[in-house]
Amino acid sequence: MRTRSLLLCGVSIALPLLVRADTCKDTDMQHEATSADQPFAFNCTYPPLTYGEVNVMWYLPASKSPISKDKKSRIHQEHTWILILPLKLEDSGIYLCVIKNPDNCLRIWINLTVFEKPWCNTSRRSLPNLSDDYKQILHIGIIDSLTCHLDFPETCVLGPIMWYKDCKLITGARFVPLEGKLFVYNISEEDSGSYACTAKLTHEGRSYMIVNSINVSTSKAGNGRRIPKIIYPKNNSIEVQLGSALIVDCNITDSKENTNLRCWRVNNTLVDTYYSESKRIQEGIETNVSFPEYIFYTVNITFLEVKMEDYGLPFMCHAGVSTAYFILTLPAPDFRAYLIGGLIALAILVTSVLCIYNYFKIDIVLWYRSAFCSTKTIEDGKLYDAYVLYPKPRRESQRRDVDTLVLKLLPAVLEGQCRYKLFIFGRDEFPGQAVANVIDENIKLCRRLILILVPESPSVGLLTNMSAEQIAVYNALIQVGMKVILIELERIEDYSTMPESVQYMRQKHGAIRWTGDLSEQSQSAKTKFWKRVRYHMPPRRFPPACSPAAEARTLRLPRPQTETRVGLITH
Ligand SMILES: *[C@@H]1O[C@H](CO)[C@@H](O)[C@H](O)[C@H]1NC(C)=O
Ligand SMILES: *[C@@H]1O[C@H](CO)[C@@H](O)[C@H](O)[C@H]1NC(C)=O
Ligand SMILES: *[C@@H]1O[C@H](CO)[C@@H](O)[C@H](O)[C@H]1NC(C)=O
Ligand SMILES: *[C@@H]1O[C@H](CO)[C@@H](O)[C@H](O)[C@H]1NC(C)=O
Ligand SMILES: *[C@@H]1O[C@H](CO)[C@@H](O)[C@H](O)[C@H]1NC(C)=O
Ligand SMILES: *[C@@H]1O[C@H](CO)[C@@H](O)[C@H](O)[C@H]1NC(C)=O
Ligand SMILES: *[C@@H]1O[C@H](CO)[C@@H](O)[C@H](O)[C@H]1NC(C)=O
Ligand SMILES: *[C@@H]1O[C@H](CO)[C@@H](O)[C@H](O)[C@H]1NC(C)=O
Ligand SMILES: *[C@@H]1O[C@H](CO)[C@@H](O)[C@H](O)[C@H]1NC(C)=O
Ligand SMILES: *[C@@H]1O[C@H](CO)[C@@H](O)[C@H](O)[C@H]1NC(C)=O
Ligand SMILES: *[C@@H]1O[C@H](CO)[C@@H](O)[C@H](O)[C@H]1NC(C)=O
Repeated sequence: MRTRSLLLCGVSIALPLLVRADTCKDTDMQHEATSADQPFAFNCTYPPLTYGEVNVMWYLPASKSPISKDKKSRIHQEHTWILILPLKLEDSGIYLCVIKNPDNCLRIWINLTVFEKPWCNTSRRSLPNLSDDYKQILHIGIIDSLTCHLDFPETCVLGPIMWYKDCKLITGARFVPLEGKLFVYNISEEDSGSYACTAKLTHEGRSYMIVNSINVSTSKAGNGRRIPKIIYPKNNSIEVQLGSALIVDCNITDSKENTNLRCWRVNNTLVDTYYSESKRIQEGIETNVSFPEYIFYTVNITFLEVKMEDYGLPFMCHAGVSTAYFILTLPAPDFRAYLIGGLIALAILVTSVLCIYNYFKIDIVLWYRSAFCSTKTIEDGKLYDAYVLYPKPRRESQRRDVDTLVLKLLPAVLEGQCRYKLFIFGRDEFPGQAVANVIDENIKLCRRLILILVPESPSVGLLTNMSAEQIAVYNALIQVGMKVILIELERIEDYSTMPESVQYMRQKHGAIRWTGDLSEQSQSAKTKFWKRVRYHMPPRRFPPACSPAAEARTLRLPRPQTETRVGLITH
């Protein structure tokens, strides 16, 4: 039965046996009194120093060598614990535990007194002065409890706890044992006396009996000076972001009669005093709620902003003799947040690159073609870059516009400036050549189909404005699967009168709308409209005349350059 006696005030005993190391700080002597023949364990801990990576070393009385870590040894160290299985009378003495971490060194002194236990023996000897753990009070008239103190490391397996009074096993509805406690209902003065709790402890296959004697006195609930109980904090740590605000409650239960002071302290100084200048950390105003048997107090501590210096510092809540603290810790980095952030950044980057590419796509492609296009002829057996197909609208002004675009501007820009070769129906076929032949011959020789569209009154479709030959050409070209460039001369609201294939192409690839001035004689290939047309044209063959193959074919099919054949397209 381990006991932590009340710290003797101001004890700073210079022990002759042990030499003080200059770098280590000493704590006040702790007193433990336990009876012989039973297991003893003591955890060497000093929060917040033992928070995190520490090195703990136990030393025997008057010995400079550390205690064995062999679990079979009667006295040995396990993690931070010292274990004595079982205690002998001669184990009395002053034990030393040294806690070291990279920044600190602390020496904890334990005065262990082992006495012979006169439990349930007639030859009762007087006990030495014991700590509060041995003396417990039951308050008359209420439900109260006794505590069996069993603090052992995890390697020790504890059996069920049995409770005794005056050497007899306790039974009856008034007594309810629960998790190391014995709850007592309807307490009367007769409940005072000599109690004991026992439990079997198993360690490394060996069993030991723990006997915990408790001298119980009763007290009227009204007069009992119960120790205030701090429900929260529980010597815990709180994760908090640097720079954030934080409010922590100290929740306390205390009996009605107690006039305890409740406050928050840091480094043993009242918080409001410690931060009297900045007022960054403040104590809240105490509130209370009354219950029949006790009063529930809450006093909070407010951090306006958490700073780096706050981490690792214990903030203590005091209520009379009871204390409890919390420590702030930095939250572990949230890798998920980083990952999501990275993905979002990547998505934004990709989207913006795509947007920029889309916006400058035409310029990029045209620049690329001009910079990197090979000088070799595309050997696909084609003679023309595009077959130009256009309607003959009924309206005179429209017809003039179409003719200007097809017969003047298209050749001027695409042939003159960009050195493409166009086959324009009504300009380039041989006189007298059969239409079927024209189609057959030329379809195979073109890389693109340029289709000029004009708005029509709903009753008159595109096809009605083209010659039968044109339609045949058009259908044949579509069947070959040639790429089509749609050019709208004016805005076309209603596509429903157009052939389905045109509607489909318009939906899928869009159309290029004429934006320039038809009356302008010198067109620039660098305007937006012409750039878009060029973008859809095949990569320019450069220089086209250099290829012997192309030349040969050009010779075989010399292209009449006259404009007198314009009127050939008829209904
Ligand atoms: C014993 O002390 C260590 C720190 O020294 C601590 O981590 C551990 O929780 C303590 N064990 C118990 C049961 O209090
Ligand atoms: C240790 O405790 C025993 C018994 O309580 C006492 O007689 C002795 O003086 C203590 N020693 C020190 C150094 O406090
Ligand atoms: C005291 O009681 C314990 C267990 O009850 C027993 O083992 C021991 O022999 C007794 N001692 C004396 C002196 O009677
Ligand atoms: C127990 O301690 C009190 C003071 O705390 C003292 O008056 C008393 O004599 C002590 N009794 C024994 C048996 O040591
Ligand atoms: C406590 O005493 C009351 C009457 O005073 C009784 O009704 C109740 O059953 C008792 N409770 C227990 C657990 O004995
Ligand atoms: C229990 O403690 C009281 C004082 O706290 C004392 O008068 C009484 O003799 C003790 N009883 C036993 C059995 O030790
Ligand atoms: C403290 O008590 C208040 C009620 O006064 C409650 O709202 C709060 O959740 C409690 N805090 C903790 C940590 O138990
Ligand atoms: C804590 O208080 C002591 C004096 O009581 C002082 O020497 C020490 O510097 C203080 N520590 C901090 C972190 O303020
Ligand atoms: C903290 O205490 C103050 C009183 O000082 C109160 O106004 C405030 O509501 C409390 N905050 C919380 C979160 O309980
Ligand atoms: C509880 O709070 C009220 C004010 O809110 C105060 O008057 C009273 O004294 C408090 N009670 C206790 C026991 O602190
Ligand atoms: C919290 O720490 C204080 C002081 O270190 C100690 O008195 C108290 O018993 C501890 N409470 C818990 C629940 O561990």
